[in-house]
Amino acid sequence: MVKKRTCVFISGQGSNLKNLIFHSRDKSFPIEISLVISNNKNAKGIIYAKKFDIPYVIINAKHRNSDNKILKNLKKFKISFICLAGYMKIISNKIVKKFEKKIINIHPSLLPKYKGLNTYTKILRNYEKKTGCTVHYVNNKLDDGAIIVKKIFYVNSNDNKITLKKKTQIMEYKAYPEAIVKIFRNR
Ligand code: GRF
Repeated sequence: MVKKRTCVFISGQGSNLKNLIFHSRDKSFPIEISLVISNNKNAKGIIYAKKFDIPYVIINAKHRNSDNKILKNLKKFKISFICLAGYMKIISNKIVKKFEKKIINIHPSLLPKYKGLNTYTKILRNYEKKTGCTVHYVNNKLDDGAIIVKKIFYVNSNDNKITLKKKTQIMEYKAYPEAIVKIFRNR
């Protein structure tokens, strides 16, 4: 099996990046992580790129030609699939069009509920009984594309932002690889 050359976009901790690197070392997993792009030079997740010898580039999304820089690097590293993992910037239309149905994202709620930021605060404020995470295709609207995998758990009355995040991320580490396997099984 020829693995899809994949770029993971990050902005912060990179625990999903680490998890995807771990899975990609299995020879039956459909992707290999060939590039990491971060908009934040201080993103902790960069250590995983360094540790596993994966090329990485820092591209400040505020720069006028950042889209071109991203596209140039995707081309240079022959990237055919993109995973957003805690990337705190909106992917521009230009990139979405070039990589249609080839960009996926993970979001810490049961989409279409709670798109955007401050998800855990909103979930707690609304006394949701259940929550989880969603892996979805990226289109030109925020947290909106077709859903690939959802994982659900029940919220406890004593849950807070910290415990919700922990529980959600445990689900994410299962959901993201599962979604990737599902996508390529169907292609
Ligand atoms: C994840 O919880 C994901 O749902 C959200 O950002 C978080 C990133 O965490 N989009 P990490 O950087 O992968 O640890």
